[in-house]
This record gives sequence, structure tokens and C-alpha cells, in this order.
Amino acid sequence: MSPVDGAGVSNPDLPVDRAVTEGRVPQADPEQIPQLSEVDCPPELQARIEELMGRYPDRRSASIPALWAVQERYGYCAPEGIRQAAAVMRVTPAYLESVASFYDLLHTKPVGRHRIEVCTNISCWMRGGDQLLDAFRAAAGDDSEEFFVTGFECLGACDIAPMASIDQRYYGPLEAAEAGVAIEQLRAGAEVLPEKALAKRPLAGDTPSPGAARGGGAG
Ligand code: FES
Repeated sequence: MSPVDGAGVSNPDLPVDRAVTEGRVPQADPEQIPQLSEVDCPPELQARIEELMGRYPDRRSASIPALWAVQERYGYCAPEGIRQAAAVMRVTPAYLESVASFYDLLHTKPVGRHRIEVCTNISCWMRGGDQLLDAFRAAAGDDSEEFFVTGFECLGACDIAPMASIDQRYYGPLEAAEAGVAIEQLRAGAEVLPEKALAKRPLAGDTPSPGAARGGGAG
């Protein structure tokens, strides 16, 4: 069969679309949904994913939080964790892998124990976000088992630019020199930059009476 041009006219000079001659269906068997009995899913992880699925009319809507639960258990979206979640959710592992590979906060490869995302988007960039990222990278060095440092798009906290998310907590505005302090505090297991923790900042309209301590906000 000759290829056809845009007007639907057969033209033997056009390259042949291999999909026409070879087909679009891969020869391999379609991936199967793993059985729970095959995957040795930890009971707590199974219970967590089932609870998450119960929140939505369509169980697939729980894919992101289920993958987050896998990441919390294994440190990243490990292949065995994805198979376990897939078995619980009754979807293929490939389906969950496609979700995990799309989102930057889900990791499909092992990463450092402490995850640091430095915002380099416009507000943070204008206030030194690139330098802050460089400072975190320099302070973390090549200790990839402990630290995963990456630049990130706007984290939605432009009012504290330049800022970073450290183990899912927001900090800012940060000086480049504070990157090293934060890394040392993480190494020591100490509280990280308490004076820069968003969780410890007063809320709008939050005007405690003199001498009254504001509650909440672990940093
Ligand atoms: S630009 Fe950095 S938090 Fe929005």
C-alpha cells in the first residue's frame, strides 16, 4: 500500500509509516494486574491504600496518595512497592509507574533521606534562588545517601522568597549562608532553621496578646 498525502492521494515517494505495515499493537502480552498473594504487601501499607481508595468513587483517584504511601515506606517509589500498590488497587504496575514518573515529588529512583527542593521560579529567582540552590548543593556535597537537593518550580510560597522545602516543610526567606546551617542541623538531627520555618510564622490576623505564646506549628 502506498502512503497517502494530506489530500488523501496515494504517493509512493512518501516515507512509509511503519505502524501501517507492522501494526501498532506490541507483540508482548499485555501486563497483568498482580495478585495480592504474589506481592507480599506489608499489612500497614495495604490498609493505608485501602483507606485512601475508600475516599474516592473511583479507586484510581487514590493513585497519587497511594504512591506517596509507597514512597514513605520505601524512600522512593520502589518497583516492589508499586507492584504491591497495584495489587491492592487492582491496576497494572505500569499504570502507577506512569503516574509516578509524571510528578516531580514522586521518585522512581532512590534519593537521599532528606529531600530539599529549592524554588528557582520568578519570585525566588529574583531574590537569589539560584544562589540558594548552589549553596545547598555545595553544603550537601556528594552525600547522595543523606541529601537530595534539586531546583523546583514555584512552590506557592512566593511571599517568603527565596524559599526551600526541606523534608516537606517550608522555610524562608533564606540567605545562601543558611543553607550550610540547615544541612548541619539535618546531619545532627536538630531542628532546622526554626526562625525561618513557615509553620512557625504568625497567621494573617493572628495577633496574640502580649506574652501569650502561639500554639502549633512544628517546624
Ligand atoms: S516563586 Fe518561589 S515560591 Fe513562588
